[in-house]
Amino acid sequence: MNPPLPITPEEDPVQVVDEWLKEATQKGIQRHPNSMTLATVNTSGQPSARVVLLKDLSVNKGFGVFYTHYGSKKGIDISNNSTVSAVMHWDQLGKQVRLEGEAVRSPAKESNEYFMTRPWHSQLNAWVSEQSKSLANPIDLVRRAKDKARDLKLPDPTDIAFNGLDLNKSCIPRPPFWGGYRLWFAAIELWTEGAGRFHNRIRYERTLSPIDAYTFQASDWKSGYLQP
Ligand SMILES: Cc1cc2nc3c(=O)[nH]c(=O)nc-3n(C[C@H](O)[C@H](O)[C@H](O)COP(=O)(O)O)c2cc1C
Repeated sequence: MNPPLPITPEEDPVQVVDEWLKEATQKGIQRHPNSMTLATVNTSGQPSARVVLLKDLSVNKGFGVFYTHYGSKKGIDISNNSTVSAVMHWDQLGKQVRLEGEAVRSPAKESNEYFMTRPWHSQLNAWVSEQSKSLANPIDLVRRAKDKARDLKLPDPTDIAFNGLDLNKSCIPRPPFWGGYRLWFAAIELWTEGAGRFHNRIRYERTLSPIDAYTFQASDWKSGYLQP
C-alpha cells in the first residue's frame, strides 16, 4: 500500500506548490525546476502548449508570474481568452501540479523591475524578436540586434556575446510589448506518485472575481481527493 499522502485537502495548495518548487530547486534535479507547460486556446478553440518559466509565485494572493512577448502566439491567445491552464512535473520527485486560471498582464512596474534583472543580451532579444512571427533568415535577427544596439548606444552584441562582458542592466528599457502575466489560480491539482499506480490526487477549486486589471478576489478553496 501507499505511504500516507503528505498533503491533505485542508492545506493551502499554493503553499504546497511553493514547497515543491523549493524542493526541486534545492535538490538541483532539473536545469529549469520552475518550467511549466502553459496551454492557451485560440479563437477557433485550438489548444496550444509551450514551456515558460514560472518566475514568481505569490503564495498569499495565489498567482504565479511568467514573462513573454505580449504579441506572441500565447499573448494573442490570452488577449482573446484569458482562461489558461498549466502543468509542472518533477519526475525525480514523483510530483505533478496542474493549474487552471486566469492570465492577466502584470502591472508595468513589476515587469520593469523584472526586466532590469535580465542579462543585457536577453533584454536586447526582447526588443528585436517579434516572438512567434515567421523569420525569413536567422541572420536578419542578428542584424536587427546590431541595429537596435546601435540605437541604444550599446556595444555591438556580436562582439561581446561571447566574452562575458556585463553591462549596466538599466541601459536597456523594457519594450512595452514584453512583460509579465499573472496566472491567478482558480483550480490546482496536486499529484504525487504512488506505488502500483495508486497515485494520490487532490483537486482544489475556488472562485475568482475581478477587482481591477491585475487583481482578483478569491473565495476559499474547496477541495477533495480524486481517483488516480
Ligand atoms: C525551458 C524553457 C523555458 C522557456 N521559457 C520561456 C519563457 O519564460 N517565456 C517565453 O516567452 N518563452 C519561453 N520559452 C520558449 C517557449 O516555449 C516558446 O517557444 C515561445 O514562448 C513561443 O511560444 P508561442 O509561439 O506559443 O507564443 C521557453 C522554452 C523552454 C524549453
